[in-house]
Amino acid sequence: SVVDNRLRTGYHFQPPRNWINDPNGPMYFNGVYHLFYQYNPNGSVWGNIVWAHSVSTDLVNWIALDPAIRPSKPFDINGCWSGSATVLPGNRPAIFYTGIDPQQRQLQNVAYPKDLSDPYLREWVKPDYNPVIAPGDGINASAFRDPTTAWRGPGTHWKLVVGSKWNRRGKAILYRSRDFVHWVKAKHPLHTVKDTGMWECPDFYPVAVKGRRGLDTSAYGDGMKHVLKVSLDLRRYEYYTLGKYYHYQDKYVPDNTSADDHTGLRYDYGNFYASKTFFDPKKQRRILWGWANESDAKDVDVAKGWAGIQAIPRTIWLDSSGRQLIQWPIEELESLRGKHVVVEHKKVSGGNSFEVEGINSSQADVEVAFEVSGLEKAEAFDPSWATDAEALCGRKRADVKGGVGPFGLLVLASANMEEKTAVFFRIFKAEHKHVVLMCHDPTRSSMRPNLYRPTFAGYVDVDIAKTGKISLRSLIDHSVVESFGADGKTCITSRVYPSLAIGKDAHLFVFNNGSADVKVSELKAWEIRRPLMNGA
Ligand code: FRU
Repeated sequence: SVVDNRLRTGYHFQPPRNWINDPNGPMYFNGVYHLFYQYNPNGSVWGNIVWAHSVSTDLVNWIALDPAIRPSKPFDINGCWSGSATVLPGNRPAIFYTGIDPQQRQLQNVAYPKDLSDPYLREWVKPDYNPVIAPGDGINASAFRDPTTAWRGPGTHWKLVVGSKWNRRGKAILYRSRDFVHWVKAKHPLHTVKDTGMWECPDFYPVAVKGRRGLDTSAYGDGMKHVLKVSLDLRRYEYYTLGKYYHYQDKYVPDNTSADDHTGLRYDYGNFYASKTFFDPKKQRRILWGWANESDAKDVDVAKGWAGIQAIPRTIWLDSSGRQLIQWPIEELESLRGKHVVVEHKKVSGGNSFEVEGINSSQADVEVAFEVSGLEKAEAFDPSWATDAEALCGRKRADVKGGVGPFGLLVLASANMEEKTAVFFRIFKAEHKHVVLMCHDPTRSSMRPNLYRPTFAGYVDVDIAKTGKISLRSLIDHSVVESFGADGKTCITSRVYPSLAIGKDAHLFVFNNGSADVKVSELKAWEIRRPLMNGA
């Protein structure tokens, strides 16, 4: 059969079996990281949704607990959908989640730990006064979900937003409360954009203008910007803007450097959805969790008995340009690095490739620094490509020869390269600058027929003519590849299902299919050890 459990991930977050989707309510509390997530206890397709619960002290090794929130009351009897955690003053965690009622209406409920002295917060109680926010007049009860972490700022009120839409207009509806029990809708949504459809899983938080330190969601004052992220149901992609938040007016104004429509900035240009951040007070950082669904056929998900993973958590901060966020795998991942190999000062001339030997690269972490030259050979950039990196990558795939690039890695490749997932850059010459495209091309990732193999791509905001170099990191884990270009400026996640390049038969190559030479100034590749993963 086509089902091969050797394609199960080794170090990505996964329960032993069944369907998972959105990360929910991530938080740090009394020395423990909590991750809740959308989970079907009865199968490997979406349905019967509860909040599954796992805990960790390092974000790498995970212990599975019983589901924390499951349908039990009229206000959530048809499902416990996505939501967020807020740690209230006095160190009291609260969860806000969407419940589905008997009429299939979407309601916002709260839940609290039953026993704050239980280090794992195993049991959660839903007060009888739920729902705390019901869809009132002018709200579409079937498009009203995914409450954010609440924030307080300088005033006395708590605030949060709930994702919604009105016809085709996406909305982040704002609510306020003094006591976390009584919530009143604000006159204006925090933000809204026409023709964007349902805004799922909104996230709203401050980032420091300088440095990498994270900020508490309630932080206010000078030296910060805010991020508003939404997951667009229609496109299955996420977009964010950077902007200014006026705490007293509850007004969010996106910067003019952040396109405020579906051509805006992305956390990830691939398979990454319904993400959510939280502030980690232990290490003073903000961490991003996101879901990577399978991209195989449903009947294969059913046969293998599991579907969905969480991407490796990423530390997130504002780039020094102020124009975009930077993402980097949490440093704890490096504690799983094992056997490694190093390649230094190696030229890869046009049309050539070489194999990185000496490690099992089916479960690996690869960091590489490229030096580029011959920029005069770069292909000409058509300005109409500027808004659609994905389409450009779809036309100019890894096997389409270029000037400067395509160059990069071939991961999860079979020995003779019949199978390979290409992770690469391609550099173009525009009128006044060079344009760097980063791409995942999985079109040759498997010999299996009829697989969904989308190419994914984003531009990389670097001045390549000035620096002459660009870095790439790829996290490879059997059926997932997460890549970070230019130290975390552009990120792409893909799910791939090789039929030959499995386990010890997975190979790793560096390739250059351009006419200009490229140099690997340094490449390091580590095997990644298997952590404790929910008892699997
Ligand atoms: C996003 C989403 C949310 C919803 C949840 C249901 O993937 O559709 O909007 O709360 O999943 O599982």
